[in-house]
Amino acid sequence: MNQTKKRVLVSGGAGYIGSHVTVELIEAGYDVVVADNLSNCDMTCFEGVKKITGRDDIPFEKMDCCDAPLVEALFSKYRIDAVIHFAAFKAVGESVAEPIKYYKNNLISFLNILDAAKNHGGCNVLFSSSATVYGETDKLPVTEESPRQPAMCSYGATKQICEDILVDVVRATSAYGDEIKAGASELGPVKGIALRYFNPIGAHPSALIGELPRGVPNNLVPYITQTAIGKRECLSIFGNDYPTPDGTCLRDYIDVVDLAKAHVAAVARMLDGKMKKGYEIFNVGTGKPVSVLELVTKFEKVNNLKLNYKFAPRRAGDITAIWADTSLANKELGWKAERSLEDTLKSAWQWECHLAGK
Ligand code: UFG
Repeated sequence: MNQTKKRVLVSGGAGYIGSHVTVELIEAGYDVVVADNLSNCDMTCFEGVKKITGRDDIPFEKMDCCDAPLVEALFSKYRIDAVIHFAAFKAVGESVAEPIKYYKNNLISFLNILDAAKNHGGCNVLFSSSATVYGETDKLPVTEESPRQPAMCSYGATKQICEDILVDVVRATSAYGDEIKAGASELGPVKGIALRYFNPIGAHPSALIGELPRGVPNNLVPYITQTAIGKRECLSIFGNDYPTPDGTCLRDYIDVVDLAKAHVAAVARMLDGKMKKGYEIFNVGTGKPVSVLELVTKFEKVNNLKLNYKFAPRRAGDITAIWADTSLANKELGWKAERSLEDTLKSAWQWECHLAGK
């Protein structure tokens, strides 16, 4: 029975989103191999994944996907039916300061995965992309057809470039693209889906896995939970003079478990031969804009606490507003965000309490 199970490689599977995706894949009946170099996480979430799924035997390979021979060896060791590629650096500010580090890591690791996939008879590749590719736009919500804007940081640029690389590789190798290119028979077909995430937040309802930022969090929700628990003194809300209803920025906060389920739907679409083109893109969000202030107020209300916060100047590089048109994902993936923002914010707080041993 087990031999017929499809196997998914999750690169970066010990991280925040990767660990939630690993849980959902296993619960949906897939075999999973996790590869992670633990550069931005430890084994906490992977141990949590084992507890949640009751599976002590999930293969874990501690390795850097920038090491091509190791990636080749991984594909030789396991028969891989699909890859979900998370392994990448993701701090916007750091990427501005250290562009070479970002381009090297994020591009080389993805190229190695694609190369190995192609060499081993082809593969289905799901790339973890970002709404950052849309940049600032007046036409909201954004659809998958909305034009990409020039990236505002190297991190965003790597997301755009990796999307483009995937398009080219699919074009060159896919057995069912517009046309089969000369020489394509020597290559394994690669099919690709890019999921463009909006703002993933929250944690698994078990509170055994969640976001584990190193150092001072850049993102809003971990900063909120760390302030609420007393690790940080005060949350700064960056800007209250934006042209929005309450003056603070609007984002589309997507629950991490809902996001993980979108990955399972996308993998199933690839493996079940349901793709309409060799390369597809889906927005993964809720479709609902929420302001920073609304989020803070809701966090206080659902968790019955008071948060120390103040208004501060705008943060450089922030866009005023972005949220998703999710109709394509709703229709084609048969997926939609289900968890309420209230439950998501409760889960974020429960995870912080779990970390604090409370
Ligand atoms: N914010 C604060 N205070 C904080 C942190 C954030 O007010 O301490 C505000 C930001 O100004 C922004 C909102 O909260 O208005 C959300 O900020 P995040 O840093 O949580 O998320 P971003 O929307 O800036 O960035 C996210 C991802 C990026 C991705 C981007 C794409 O973190 O990886 O969305 O839009 F590139």
